[in-house]
Amino acid sequence: MSQTQTQTQTLWWASESFWKKMAIWITAGSVVVLIFLTFDTVKQITAGGKRVPAYSVINQRIDYVFDDKRNHQVPVIGPEEPLFGKKLSEEEAMALVSKGKLTTQAKNCMNCHTLLGNGAYYAPDLTKSWLDPNWGTKETREQKMVDFLMNPEEMLHNSIGRRMTNLGITEEEARATVAFLKWMSSIDTNGFPYNFKPIDQSDPAPAAAPAASADAAAAPVQQ
Ligand code: HEC
Repeated sequence: MSQTQTQTQTLWWASESFWKKMAIWITAGSVVVLIFLTFDTVKQITAGGKRVPAYSVINQRIDYVFDDKRNHQVPVIGPEEPLFGKKLSEEEAMALVSKGKLTTQAKNCMNCHTLLGNGAYYAPDLTKSWLDPNWGTKETREQKMVDFLMNPEEMLHNSIGRRMTNLGITEEEARATVAFLKWMSSIDTNGFPYNFKPIDQSDPAPAAAPAASADAAAAPVQQ
């Protein structure tokens, strides 16, 4: 009996005080790590950062291009291309995008759609909806989106065969929602949605381009 007692005393890793100290240190360590991660995450998701552009990005062209290094598509901010032809200041852009975001919340778009992958799966994901080729050309897109949001039940613009219900969205709300959707499409989402074919919004090819494409066409012959 006395032998077992001595043994338990010598097993330091089984002692109560050891585990009490461990619990305190692990909790304290986790708190420090979580505080660090919280600040790091807030930095990554705040508009105006590297991954989530400032709201005035709606003044520019946004594309979604395959990046060989990262092995998935990334948003590419292009030349100036103001939404509805009107360049906005950072404050104006923020106010418009916020109004659009509030509209998506008030009308509960997530009841049917996913935004950045969150929500319901009844209707298409809206993360890159701004870049959807179903809007036609980049010139007609803005107005088409506004018309669609105001009268969606009259239009069926994709192939899933379901129609969106009329949510009583005003023109002002629709325009703000389009601003929100444009801004959202500029967010770097690590390649989500994957394999998305964006609307063609390239400018007409410059004069030098035919030479380059002639080279490309000649390449297979050389092989
Ligand atoms: C009751 C379900 C429902 C709700 C709520 C809803 N939608 Fe839809 N939405 C749909 C369906 C179904 C489609 C596909 C119809 C189509 O493509 O014609 C769709 C299509 C769309 C599209 C085109 C998507 C694409 O592929 O480019 C946009 C943009 C859109 N909705 C925006 C919104 C916004 C913004 C809200 C909230 C204000 C919203 N929807 C709320 C059902 C819904």
